[in-house]
Amino acid sequence: MKIKNILVVGGAGYIGSHMSWMLRERGENVVILDNLSSGHKDAAFCGTFIEGDLCNPTILNTVFTDHNIEAVIHFASSIQVGESMSDPAKYYENNLVNSLNLLNAMRSHNVSKIIFSSTAAIFGNPQYTPINESHPLNPINTYGRTKLMVEQILADYDRAYGIKSISLRYFNAAGAHPESILGERHDPETHLIPLVLDAASGRRPDITVFGKDYDTYDGTCIRDYIHVMDLGEAHWLSLQHLINGGDSNSFNLGNGNGYSVNEVIRSVESVTGLDVPVKYGSRRFGDPSVLVSDSSKIIDMLGWAPQYSSLDEIVKHAWQWHKRQANESNQKIDI
Ligand code: UFG
Repeated sequence: MKIKNILVVGGAGYIGSHMSWMLRERGENVVILDNLSSGHKDAAFCGTFIEGDLCNPTILNTVFTDHNIEAVIHFASSIQVGESMSDPAKYYENNLVNSLNLLNAMRSHNVSKIIFSSTAAIFGNPQYTPINESHPLNPINTYGRTKLMVEQILADYDRAYGIKSISLRYFNAAGAHPESILGERHDPETHLIPLVLDAASGRRPDITVFGKDYDTYDGTCIRDYIHVMDLGEAHWLSLQHLINGGDSNSFNLGNGNGYSVNEVIRSVESVTGLDVPVKYGSRRFGDPSVLVSDSSKIIDMLGWAPQYSSLDEIVKHAWQWHKRQANESNQKIDI
């Protein structure tokens, strides 16, 4: 019998590469499909790598014909909220149409299990916090709308075609592999923790805090930072659930602890021992003041137990990766 494979779409990206590593460590055979638009080929070393785009039906057909795909984990998408408002066509193509192409290829090849990367952005401005799965779904940007539409398509595809899915609504993914084998590399970088690390190490002059007049304890936005390895673990448990015949579901995924932007900066200063030059700027459009997850559903149903829930540990792993990257590009940081 042909060996079974897990197809990781977007496996050269930040979360997808950590997931592929985890799958390989646990004895799974991995096939990675990535168009390298934002991922890195050198991060896609934990499986058979295929460069290709979900808009290409020939590639999709080849992937499913040549490899015995048992289940799909779908990370590939465009993720910048601001860009999704200025260039919605890109987001409807990449996130919606391409997800549909993937699902239709799964249908044609009788593959009936998929884990989908969704987002806290499907909730819009929170009506209460922490946010559980019963919270109204009211995305306020195109990025969030594309993810919600795919969740709705998944529900229809389960009912009509029996494709089982788990949608994981990430809050703020952060951190890196604890031994710095992998980490976060976005270009351009827009996420807070890597930007603050850049400011600490002098790779950029400072960090601009977007708004200090929010209705929070220190006036800056509060977010729920979840370690990328804990995210991986949630995908693993979701995969086991589907492979064991479990039903479709969706889960919110965060630590349940909120940290303000100022607290993240203080954590970076404490972990690195370096001063972070800070500027205070105006609010960024579309930023809710507080986004914190109530993840009790996945804890109760799938037994998910985050291992790295302290912010300092998340920042420590991100810092180790940051130093490794800087040293490899000869911008040696002597710390
Ligand atoms: N921030 C700054 N300065 C910066 C960058 C970010 O103050 O230079 C602040 C933001 O205003 C926000 C917090 O840091 O309050 C975190 O910002 P990120 O850009 O790191 O993350 P977001 O919370 O905006 O985005 C995350 C995911 C998105 C997802 C969104 C859902 O990265 O993919 O949550 O709301 F859409």
